[in-house]
Amino acid sequence: MAAKERTLSIIKPDATRRNLTGKINAKFEDQGLRIIAQKRLHLTEDEAGKFYDVHRERPFFKDLVSFMISGPVVVQVLEGADAVAANRKIMGATNPANAEAGTIRKEFAESIEANSVHGSDSLDNAKREISFFFAETEIVG
Ligand code: CMP
Repeated sequence: MAAKERTLSIIKPDATRRNLTGKINAKFEDQGLRIIAQKRLHLTEDEAGKFYDVHRERPFFKDLVSFMISGPVVVQVLEGADAVAANRKIMGATNPANAEAGTIRKEFAESIEANSVHGSDSLDNAKREISFFFAETEIVG
């Protein structure tokens, strides 16, 4: 039996700029994930840096932070059966060039950096990332 999980999703600035929030949300909902919390934010440099702290030493860190603060994002909690893995399947590979047909990144991503969505990569990170953006009272399952 698949366990009911929660995962953190971010609709990135390249997607909000192109007015794709609804089309991306339809992918989640059509494939069985429920959006149980959602808010639109314009991240500060400090917030984006803290969120991506694990990537701080990577060569792409500075550009990633600049990109993530270049426009609004939509942060969300998705809930459903095996939500962490299910969301990763719906998103497709990090690099849209490697993403499968029908995935968000194949259909919408512009590049490996402007790749339209972020999703937690493990249940532990999902818990950490959800609490980074949401109080328990803002999540309505
Ligand atoms: P995300 O799932 O948000 O996690 C880290 C992000 O860094 C990743 O998606 C990409 O958008 C971005 N990124 C930029 N360059 C690279 C790279 N060379 N390898 C991996 N991620 C990258």
